[in-house]
Amino acid sequence: MSNVRGEFSSRFGFIMAAAGSAVGLGNIWGFPTQTASNGGAAFVLAYLVLAFCLAYPALMAELVIGRHGQANAVSSLQKLTTSPWQKKFAFFVGFGGIICAGLILSFYAIVAGWMFSATIEPITAITSMDNATLWLSEQSLTRDIIFTGLFIVLTVLIISKGVENGIEKWSKRLMPALLGILFALIAYVMTQEGAVTGLKAYLVPDFSSILNPELLVNALGQAFFSLSLGTSVMIIYGSYISKRENLVSLGAFVTLIDVFIAFVAGLLIIPAMYVAQAQGVEIFAADGSLLSEDTLVFQVLPALFDSMGDIGLFVGFAFFALMSIAALTSSISMLEAPVSYAVEKFALGRVQATWIIGALVSLVSLTILLNFAALFGFVVSITTKFGQPLLGMLCCVFVGWLWHRGKLLKEISEGCEQVEHTVFWKIWPWYIRFVCPVAIAAVFLNSL
Ligand code: PFF
Repeated sequence: MSNVRGEFSSRFGFIMAAAGSAVGLGNIWGFPTQTASNGGAAFVLAYLVLAFCLAYPALMAELVIGRHGQANAVSSLQKLTTSPWQKKFAFFVGFGGIICAGLILSFYAIVAGWMFSATIEPITAITSMDNATLWLSEQSLTRDIIFTGLFIVLTVLIISKGVENGIEKWSKRLMPALLGILFALIAYVMTQEGAVTGLKAYLVPDFSSILNPELLVNALGQAFFSLSLGTSVMIIYGSYISKRENLVSLGAFVTLIDVFIAFVAGLLIIPAMYVAQAQGVEIFAADGSLLSEDTLVFQVLPALFDSMGDIGLFVGFAFFALMSIAALTSSISMLEAPVSYAVEKFALGRVQATWIIGALVSLVSLTILLNFAALFGFVVSITTKFGQPLLGMLCCVFVGWLWHRGKLLKEISEGCEQVEHTVFWKIWPWYIRFVCPVAIAAVFLNSL
């Protein structure tokens, strides 16, 4: 049994790792697609408000549970309980989150596998490996199995190295790389015809649609998925934060980076859609709705890259490399949730636990791939539409209703001595008690 728990070695390391978990396919693909199908800038505005007013407080609840518990999600939650029924409740929330993280990883790995193959395709095209290019471009079970497996193995290799040498080291390398590629692509797209029209659609809101209930529900769901809430991931990352760190500002940084990257990704994707349209690619139906919401990234963007001529191969490579990196920094956090539990609960070595859980996740991914039509959408729905909001809400209930206020203040004060006199402490405990659970319950019921 490994008794020595890992810890992030620096503030920057934690921020990169937690932001790495938060920033993923959800930001770079999910957010711009949702923006495009929910009325453009009005959605952006709603998302910004909800991310800061509801998702950030919920993120703080998970981080503080973890930092106080200094253990896996189940044990951290159980440390706050005083009666047997509360212990069971803690197990339900913590273990539920772990299962949710594992299930999300199993479908996320499939999508990330598509990103991998789309990253390699321009390379085989440039090097004139025509058979390989054709094989990569056509969806097949073999291709998907190989790339999903590759992605899971890469995730396993990083996680088996632990917190400082695995998660932290790789997040510190991959996150700045991601930002660099994102900005380079924006600079390129902005020089193209049609980009300004896209920019307007993205930035000038139509205020009449901002209170549309469906738009609000989608924006809140997107904010929760994006901050990796309700999966026990942020509880476990919180448990690796030193007691000397200021949790309130760390959580705020992570939220800011997550929202910033989603916003910046929108600056790339929305104008890119209009550029593609100016080049003759069909994006919107006559009624203004998006033509191929889920598959847009694999249909419209390659068409855009093709129309750029030879340079399109490099741009396509850069774009899909960006998506793969973003997916990897998120997937490592998903795998850490069950691994940390297995290491502490079953006295397994980290490497052994990581490979066993990696194998289990691969089995689920394979089952989904073999029954794609029936299972893929189903697993996405039960985890992101039901699991995450419900478990996120229960974490808020935990902190708001089961944790003694004085003890909670003591935990938050570590690394942030003056917190008692801040606006944060005046508002947050009430917020977590009433506003967050009610608002999240509303989203949950709506998605039913
Ligand atoms: N936040 C990630 C994204 O936006 O792509 C997705 C995610 C990561 C969800 C980790 C859940 C999780 F536990």
